[in-house]
Amino acid sequence: MQPLLETLDLHVSFATDQSPVPVVRGIDLKVGRGEIIGLVGESGSGKSVTCMAAMGLLDDNARLRGEIRWNGRKLHCQDDDAMSVLRGNELAMIFQDPMSALNPVQTIGKQLYEAIRLHSAKRIGRSELKQRATGLLSDVGVPAPEQRLKAYPHQLSGGLNQRVVIAMMLAGNPRLLIADEPTTALDVTVQAQIIDLLRSLRDQRGMSIILVTHDLGVVAETCDRVLVMYCGRVVESGPVAAVFQSPRHPYTRGLLASLPRIDSSDDALTPIPGVVPQPHEFGEGCTFAPRCPVASECCYSGSPAQQCSESDHLFSCFSPLPVQKTRAHR
Ligand SMILES: Nc1ncnc2c1ncn2[C@@H]1O[C@H](COP(=O)(O)OP(=O)(O)O)[C@@H](O)[C@H]1O
Ligand SMILES: [Mg+2]
Repeated sequence: MQPLLETLDLHVSFATDQSPVPVVRGIDLKVGRGEIIGLVGESGSGKSVTCMAAMGLLDDNARLRGEIRWNGRKLHCQDDDAMSVLRGNELAMIFQDPMSALNPVQTIGKQLYEAIRLHSAKRIGRSELKQRATGLLSDVGVPAPEQRLKAYPHQLSGGLNQRVVIAMMLAGNPRLLIADEPTTALDVTVQAQIIDLLRSLRDQRGMSIILVTHDLGVVAETCDRVLVMYCGRVVESGPVAAVFQSPRHPYTRGLLASLPRIDSSDDALTPIPGVVPQPHEFGEGCTFAPRCPVASECCYSGSPAQQCSESDHLFSCFSPLPVQKTRAHR
């Protein structure tokens, strides 16, 4: 089936005073209908820039190469009018901090009414607006929705505000939601509730979701496929079970080893040594080589080609880890 969103060899660089800085370097991404894709990788790996590129929301100093397709049709991200129609209707994005999407001096109700009006072809009367806004709030699990309409964002918790942002976005009934670390700023229990909400949106509305997160546990529970990004490239991707059961790239194994496990008596986490290089430091070879426990000489001289582990499980590494038949990443 045709993917809803697809990027083909997507490159993004930013113009600076010196030479352009490449931050996304050839991303192939496919999101099918009703699919939840996890995008993981340490800070600075280009996850947000990839998402912003798909939304057509990159800064003016960004240069884009490659292709982005929506429903099989090539998107011209520089075409602001076409992109804003798409953003308003089919594509929506939520961020780490819900307050960035809310107006602090307007009530929740007013902001919801505006979102509903924006997506409605005909004029809607006050009582219907109120009814629809209340419905949207209850769809996203906001308790006592009618009373919340009169509240201002600062009167609600972070978790409730994130639900309000999701409700505003649902007014347009988008087909794809890009959620960029939507729970990072929230308490752990609230995080789980928001993730449950995203999953139910997929189940009930068939919405596709790109979920950017640091939390590999959330990816394991929620996502169908995962893309592991490092320094602007996808180093490994595939069905979550295959990738997590038998990571072939040492970076993926490193991320998994730094994940706390509830079923392990060994409570010492193993962080990946070293730091993520800055974009201007990206060299010729594999960018992970300086931090990689199994790197050899060849890893410093060229970029590894993509290989296939099993169907749809891809990785790019000169010294891949052996296939694990049983779960044994730690
Ligand atoms: N407008 C910009 N100009 C220059 N560099 C940028 C700009 N936006 C992002 N970057 C750089 O792009 C890299 C990737 O950033 P980002 O996509 O935010 O990473 P992630 O979301 O994976 O943490 C970072 O090194 C960041 O500093
Ligand atoms: Mg980010």
